[in-house]
Amino acid sequence: PYPVWRRLRDEAPLYYNERYEFYALSRYTDVAPALTDWQTYRSGKGSVLEVIRANIEIPPGVILFEDPPLHDIHRGLLARVFTPKRMSALEPKIREFTVRCLDPLVGAGTFDLIQQLGAQMPMRTIGFLLGIPESDQEAIRDRLDKGMNLEETSSEEMYGDGFLDGSMFAEYIDWRAKHPSDDLMTEMLNTEFEDETGTVRRLSREEILTYVTLLAGAGNETTTRLIGWTGKLLAEHPDQRREIARDRSLLPNAIEEILRFEAPSPIQARSVARDVELYGQTVPEGSIMTLLNASANRDERHFPDPDIFDIHRRIDRHLSFGYGIHFCLGASLARLEGRVALDELLNRWTDWDVDWGNAKLAHTSTARGWERLPVTLG
Ligand code: HEM
Repeated sequence: PYPVWRRLRDEAPLYYNERYEFYALSRYTDVAPALTDWQTYRSGKGSVLEVIRANIEIPPGVILFEDPPLHDIHRGLLARVFTPKRMSALEPKIREFTVRCLDPLVGAGTFDLIQQLGAQMPMRTIGFLLGIPESDQEAIRDRLDKGMNLEETSSEEMYGDGFLDGSMFAEYIDWRAKHPSDDLMTEMLNTEFEDETGTVRRLSREEILTYVTLLAGAGNETTTRLIGWTGKLLAEHPDQRREIARDRSLLPNAIEEILRFEAPSPIQARSVARDVELYGQTVPEGSIMTLLNASANRDERHFPDPDIFDIHRRIDRHLSFGYGIHFCLGASLARLEGRVALDELLNRWTDWDVDWGNAKLAHTSTARGWERLPVTLG
């Protein structure tokens, strides 16, 4: 399992890729502190390799690609409306949607877990959160999926005009401004805050677009991949699957172990703000550093028997949601979605397998996982 990461950890804990000119840290003891050291490892030029390299202008509010103090102001603002309470209130809607996806498949014998559930639930969840009418949600998701696929989109298109500008949500914001409700979009429209110049004001339409697109961009494909890995790993571990089926209190830790074992967002990139000494070498200011959180999750120096999948494992902080100031803002929502997906699968089937001949990994740089995962049902 993942021999390249193992070799990096063992033989080149500070690795330099000459062809693409970036460094990589792969051990837990290096990745975790680097994720928290935002003064040295900066996100302001992007935290995705292609974004840093493309050297593009990033609109204010894309907190994933910001450093303090702006990051903290914008994250604080988003955290005020995107609360744990609001996320957990979504559970009945998420569950109802999942039931609607899965019920017609009972008796089917086989279905594609990604197409029928994994690719639908995250965008629908964000839609529920924002209060987007269900009829508009599929079109938005298709556009996002296309935008994230490297076979259909160059990285300039991906992160340039039309993707992070949030134009796909624009009409909806205007409509919501005239039809307020109890959703996050309405709250964003009404929120008053003190901006970096000390002025108390409301968010502009532009700013709301940025936040909404950020949530959709960060929370869609990653969660789709989590659902895929859930199906795959539990197909391969029937005893653990049946154990969870019998005892649903195991669900939360099972989801944590799935996240540790297969990080949907395996690499975070940073720009190095000062010369850093590591393993007897100097990483010069201005370099690109990649932090391989997926490798850190499999580091035998930190997790005993890391390549063994064990839903009972006591996990001392995996790094799949990052760590430090950029820790995933949607983590509790992602966990909730994973838990509901697995719970509802187990309510219908306790046995499934993967049809490997027809499974396919997604070709994207930022999120790792399955694009097609046909399951055969027992
Ligand atoms: C940040 C992973 C789901 C919103 C992050 C980061 C990771 C991550 C690794 C940190 C990036 C860095 O340090 O540069 C994941 C995974 C998910 C998931 C694996 C699903 C399994 C979600 C969801 C949402 C979301 C559902 C929202 C709807 C965000 C936002 C940030 C973020 C806004 C930026 C936080 C900041 O920069 O302060 N996520 N995420 N994520 N995530 Fe998630």
